[in-house]
Amino acid sequence: MPEEQDLMEKIVSLAKRRGFIYPSSEIYGGINGFWDYGPLGVELKRNVKDAWWNDIVRCPPAGPGGLPIEMAGLDCSIIMNPKVWEASGHLAGFSDPMVTCKECKKHQRADQIMEQLAQCEWVQEVIQFCVVQPDGRAIIHGNGLLGWARKRGRKVAPGLALVRNPEVTISWMVEKAAKDGPAFTAEEFVKHVATEQFAQTGLVTPCPYCGGPLTEARQFNLMFKTHVGAMEDSSSIAYLRPETAQGIFCNYKNVLDTTRIKVPFGIAQIGKAFRNEINPRNYTFRSREFEQMEIEFFCHPKDADRWYQYWRDARYKWYVGLGLKSTKLRLRDHEKAELAHYARACADVEYEFPFGVSELEGVANRTDFDLSQHQKFSGRDMTYFDDETKERFIPYVIEPSGGVDRATLAFLCEAYAEDEAPDEKGAMQKRTVLRFHPRLAPIKVAVFPLVKKDGMPDKARAIAETLKPHMTTFYDEKGAVGRRYRRQDEAGTPFCVTVDGQTMADGTVTIRDRDSMKQERIPAAGVLGYVEEHLKR
Ligand code: GAP
Repeated sequence: MPEEQDLMEKIVSLAKRRGFIYPSSEIYGGINGFWDYGPLGVELKRNVKDAWWNDIVRCPPAGPGGLPIEMAGLDCSIIMNPKVWEASGHLAGFSDPMVTCKECKKHQRADQIMEQLAQCEWVQEVIQFCVVQPDGRAIIHGNGLLGWARKRGRKVAPGLALVRNPEVTISWMVEKAAKDGPAFTAEEFVKHVATEQFAQTGLVTPCPYCGGPLTEARQFNLMFKTHVGAMEDSSSIAYLRPETAQGIFCNYKNVLDTTRIKVPFGIAQIGKAFRNEINPRNYTFRSREFEQMEIEFFCHPKDADRWYQYWRDARYKWYVGLGLKSTKLRLRDHEKAELAHYARACADVEYEFPFGVSELEGVANRTDFDLSQHQKFSGRDMTYFDDETKERFIPYVIEPSGGVDRATLAFLCEAYAEDEAPDEKGAMQKRTVLRFHPRLAPIKVAVFPLVKKDGMPDKARAIAETLKPHMTTFYDEKGAVGRRYRRQDEAGTPFCVTVDGQTMADGTVTIRDRDSMKQERIPAAGVLGYVEEHLKR
């Protein structure tokens, strides 16, 4: 775990230092769960969205039996009629169980407490003072614990209860240790607490932050509320959309009526979504404002299983095609008990982030639930009439729903690497490099003059200008050329072009590959073709 934490810290630090991601409103101390994308980050994120739009809306992979897929795009408003959220079930049911610590007052997701306890520093430390007795019972080693508590400015009362957290923390741990027997890790230690038996002991689960007692869980709706218009009363309440999907369902008839599209077809949308997450965490992974890229694919109910398989596999392959290693990716089919009441099947595309394996995207067979709900609540007919079969039905919906920020973070984590490269004197030095897939790289090509004289800057600038209309191009003439390469490696730029003395004599330049660090000499006029050819790979 420390190694992975260390890796995540390095990625976060590089992302800040090089202008990928900044904390939102940082000059005022930031705001939890909100992030800004800097100059390199915005290009990276845009490339993720462009790749998705191109590969899903414009050129979707052929369907079963080589069938061409029909797709249409949408861009809906963030604030919608509040009835939408009544129909979708978000108003009544889009909530997480929340507990509050009575000591430090932090609000936390009740269903994540055990996982957090397993990782929190004080449990890891205090557990070292559990001593196993010959009879198999484990007790807290008082002196060790006293020393630990004193060092951290915490008081321990006789009877081994932390004074700040009366009768909770240590008695909880002693009880727990006694039950779990001789050998246990911190994770096993807290896993037990999630069991029914533990609930029956009447002991209160401690807060992962301070060890204090937690309140009972209560439901907390995740939708951000606002008011539309001048009056701030119950009649003007509206919500920032928590998903883009509902805008698609509301427009399904509009798209059918204004295009020549026929079932089966998909509607795709990329846009902001907002959730008042109780515990935003793991960098941008769980934010309060984020972007989704969602597809609602409408099909005949009898074909839904086939289309579900199609999208499940297509979405997995999309991530692999853009560079996520299949060893770090998996498709996890949901157990029956995990499925929403309306869903027939669901699979998550999961990625092994440095902080653990977590969901990138969900692919679900949502049946005709959403369209039926909107038909019921709006009174509008949501059926589809098939001209050929003369059949009328409410289509089933297959929904691949991904997060732009999560995908961007996964590509950033995957790209991060450290290796060695020679410096100006040929000595090997540590190098940090972002090995992005060329389609995702924020800058595609950098152009340098070897030195700032002999006409080289003018020539290099001229080359950069010819490339700019075609791809993101960066011109740099400052500092030693080796250092300029290193800066581009950190930004993930796949190609660097250098204008040198020979360029002035024969019109050729060197072009350096980020990953192999090999240089080739090619005609300056051939740079555009060379880079374009390599970007296709
Ligand atoms: N329409 C279905 C839906 O919204 P979801 O699993 O709640 O399903 C879909 O969200 C995707 O949106 C997730 O797989 C994830 O990539 C992204 N996502 C959800 N909540 C997020 C959050 N708080 N921060 C960043 N991305 C989030």
